[in-house]
Amino acid sequence: MDSMVTCIAPVNIAVIKYWGKRDEKLILPLNDSVSGTLSTDQMHAKTTVMRCKDFTEDKIWLNGKEVSFSNPRLLSCMKEIRRLSRESGTSEDIVNTKVHICSENNFPTAAGLASSAAGYACLVFALKELFGVKQDITRVARLGSGSACRSIYGGFVRWHKGDLADGSDSIATQIAPPSHWPLHVFILVVNDKQKKIGSTPGMQRTALTSELVQYRIKESVPKRIEDIIQAVKERNFDKFAEITMKDSNQFHAVCLDTYPPNIYMNDISHEITSFVHTYNELFPKPKVAYTFDAGPNACIYLEEESVPDFAATLQYIFPPEETLESYFKGESVQFGTVNE
Ligand code: PMV
Repeated sequence: MDSMVTCIAPVNIAVIKYWGKRDEKLILPLNDSVSGTLSTDQMHAKTTVMRCKDFTEDKIWLNGKEVSFSNPRLLSCMKEIRRLSRESGTSEDIVNTKVHICSENNFPTAAGLASSAAGYACLVFALKELFGVKQDITRVARLGSGSACRSIYGGFVRWHKGDLADGSDSIATQIAPPSHWPLHVFILVVNDKQKKIGSTPGMQRTALTSELVQYRIKESVPKRIEDIIQAVKERNFDKFAEITMKDSNQFHAVCLDTYPPNIYMNDISHEITSFVHTYNELFPKPKVAYTFDAGPNACIYLEEESVPDFAATLQYIFPPEETLESYFKGESVQFGTVNE
């Protein structure tokens, strides 16, 4: 029987960063990571998957353009979904039917704004529905893009690095649902062009050349993971903010310690960092926390009560070109644009 499914999946913003793999093919990370998943209302991927007995081959369209289905990560997700579908008791006819996939992002692709995370989470979730898969699919999303496994759940999510060589324990679990702590996130788009060093070559280079990354994965991250989970559970924003900012800084220090260095932040990113610290000094405890992924754009976490004052100050210091409404866990926040 022919069938069609459409899904929407939001991006997630890591507060303890994933950087470096111990297995390239299975996408097994060097360390655990934690992120918050934004609400589906704003930055998201939307994917429609269709199976039809008349289709002769699997095909995919990204942002309206047909692209080759030969991408090894896409192929490995497809293969795993069909295997799990068979294991779930779906009939052989359905398992072997070819699919057509249409996926689009409503935000810049590959600009360090977690586009592949939303894209693969959305694709894998839609395929799970289409093929009647019953098992955990975070490990399938991981095969597409590591951080995608965290976008399968809302709220705060932990990706466990796992210890097994086959990756079966490298899965994502929810730490707290969206309703637990409705934080806000401002995304300050410093540059929406494709990043210079993609995360895959960037991570490879770090794993091969950085000495600091060894300290990070062995000493810093394990403690930070426990501490930030506790901060989330207790809704302790100042503890959450300090760990988030320290981890972002250490991740970029590891990138600079890479040879040749991976330089993702630019002068405006550093200005935003200073601005956040200056702003926080006005209060007894930090009110906002920055974090930067593999690009110059800033993600700012803050509590609801801090939104009006921080938004007004931000717009004064960095007047935005356009202001869009964005959402984190159902709560409205500003979506600013900072121009270079
Ligand atoms: O999943 P990838 O290959 O897009 O890598 C994501 C890496 C960071 O965004 C920098 C950190 C993270 O944990 O999301």
